Amino acid sequence: MTVQWYPGHMTKTRRMMEAHMKLVDLVIELLDARIPLSSKNPDIDTLAKNKPRLIILTKPDMANARQTTRWEEYFRQSGFFTLAMDLKAGKQKNAAARVTTLVQQIMAEKFEQKRKKGRLAVPVRAMVVGIPNVGKSTFINLLAGKAVTTTADKPGVTRGRQWINVRTPTSPFAGFDLLDTPGVLWPKFEDPEVGLRLAVTGAVSDLILDRITLAEHLIMMLGDVAPKAIHVRYRFSSEGSHDIKNPRDILVSIGEARGFKMKGGAIDLERTAIMLLDEFRGGKLGRITLESPV
Ligand code: G4P
Repeated sequence: MTVQWYPGHMTKTRRMMEAHMKLVDLVIELLDARIPLSSKNPDIDTLAKNKPRLIILTKPDMANARQTTRWEEYFRQSGFFTLAMDLKAGKQKNAAARVTTLVQQIMAEKFEQKRKKGRLAVPVRAMVVGIPNVGKSTFINLLAGKAVTTTADKPGVTRGRQWINVRTPTSPFAGFDLLDTPGVLWPKFEDPEVGLRLAVTGAVSDLILDRITLAEHLIMMLGDVAPKAIHVRYRFSSEGSHDIKNPRDILVSIGEARGFKMKGGAIDLERTAIMLLDEFRGGKLGRITLESPV
């Protein structure tokens, strides 16, 4: 399969991140809780190697709760500060305050040094990084308490670099200066499964692969991690002829269950595939994590 996922603007973004790394105190890395490893840009480990790192696992409301706890533990043990956070429900859950509290812990030593030198509180400068569609705009808007970035960007579409100044008078520091970065992927997926997981969750455009093939890959992934999800959602028996090794049969059954017939009676597989991908991305098949910590 030929997959073009590394357009020129991503090279530019990587250079920008490299150039600005020395300006920041902290890197906030957003990972999709459904695919924490596949959504983790290996470039960031190199670019940010001397910086404190905070990982936010986004979309935990769509991920398996037990797996999210395991992932939090995994990243903590790997030396990251970690929080799982439903950004859509962030306001109700006081997410901004949780981030501020954690950042205070992360930066405690540095603040103390500054305080001893008699320096007044200064804002924490943080670079916010993550793959397209992981929730960067939603996260920044949550911290800012209002919409300062547009969330309408589609995967692969860049937006301009910008600093967003968030002032929080009640925090021990003066707030945040957040550097918003466009969603960036990396030039080569060592493991082709990584590309597929990014595609089924919607981080890279569907157009890189035909949707029927992508939907069949999704069916195989679900066979491993949530074997009943499809049968429960589309209400056909899990007994009988369905073999996860033959995802085409399952796709046909889903199309039948939804009545997606074309003229002449054949199942419209394209329409079925689009619907299945859409429903998975919308969390309608349940809370599903596609990969486990090793
Ligand atoms: P980006 O800047 O990293 O590209 O991502 P952005 O914030 O635009 O978020 C991409 C989509 O993911 C948005 O949905 C956003 O609402 C959704 N999202 C972000 N965080 C979470 C989360 O923790 N849980 C859930 N369930 N969704 C999350 P959208 O369909 O583009 O817009 P809308 O549904 O908000 O209208």
